[in-house]
Amino acid sequence: MQQRTTITLGVESSDLNQAADLLRAGGLVSFPTETVYGLGADACNGRAVAGIFAAKNRPSFNPLIVHVADTEAARRYAVLEGDAVRLADAFWPGPLTLVLPLTLDHGLSELVTAGLPTVGLRVPAHPVAAALLRAFDGPVAAPSANPSGRISPTQAAHVLAGLDGRIDAVVDGGACPVGVESTIVGFEDAQPVLLRPGGVPVEALERVLDTRLIQRAEGSAINAPGQLLSHYAPKARLRLNADAPEPGELYLGFGAHTGDLNLSVSGDLGEAAAQLFACLHALDDKGRPIAVAPIPDTGLGRAINDRLQRAAAPRD
Ligand code: TXA
Ligand code: MG
Repeated sequence: MQQRTTITLGVESSDLNQAADLLRAGGLVSFPTETVYGLGADACNGRAVAGIFAAKNRPSFNPLIVHVADTEAARRYAVLEGDAVRLADAFWPGPLTLVLPLTLDHGLSELVTAGLPTVGLRVPAHPVAAALLRAFDGPVAAPSANPSGRISPTQAAHVLAGLDGRIDAVVDGGACPVGVESTIVGFEDAQPVLLRPGGVPVEALERVLDTRLIQRAEGSAINAPGQLLSHYAPKARLRLNADAPEPGELYLGFGAHTGDLNLSVSGDLGEAAAQLFACLHALDDKGRPIAVAPIPDTGLGRAINDRLQRAAAPRD
């Protein structure tokens, strides 16, 4: 792993042009999206993309999400038809990733697709991400900007805590407003399937599609191979659905369940999602086991519970 000097950039157009130049030179640039900070590289440059896996210390080459400026750019890399068009029209730009068949002349690195005939595409809504994509004028592969298996970053400080000296730059655009990763939808025989709950509530997708979404079980063939159970794990042991902490535990509260920290005192799931990773980071730094209050399993609560279950999963 090559040692790098990591610079922090602002969000002026001169900063974003510098970030785009770094991407063009095959560099690694972390940038804010509405979900979490991404660790970006030129998606057509295999060596640059390999640098992502190295910097993150990812255990395997899982496919990465490719970020593009708009739907027109997305069509260069993937075939959008039927329900994919309806979802893109309704939710792009926004926290939705569509897994779609590659075009013949997509030109993306095979490391990005992990050799699959499909690619995960997303048009982020965050103004800084959108401006960077326009300045770079190409596809940017970006997983969350955290060391593999650790909590996703929602602030530039989280990115630096995990990756300082391993990437070229972080664009500091403040805290990510959504706070959990994008919802991922794939297709089986043109039928949409939910591959990961996330920033767009499943209910909102179902309203647009006018049908219930099938959710793929963890580990099924089409399921995103990157979804390792313990992918979001903090260092500390995590206990979920806890009505109260046990002796020695830190308590992450929600609503009326008050604790050392509270995801949302008013019980607002949007606020809880936006706070989730920052709260886990802060509690994890104290080096004690963490108990988490029950979170309702509706709307963004499903994505929060999905992340918490991964974080609590047994690991080796
Ligand atoms: O919100 C997000 O989605 C963030 C920001 C940075 O955009 N990105 C993110 O990327 O969460 P990452 O790499 O942490 O998660 C990518 C997920 C993995 O579960 C991966 O397996 C899945 O997307 N994925 C990507 N391409 C796929 C494909 N062709 N088929 C199935 N799953 C795919
Ligand atoms: Mg991730």
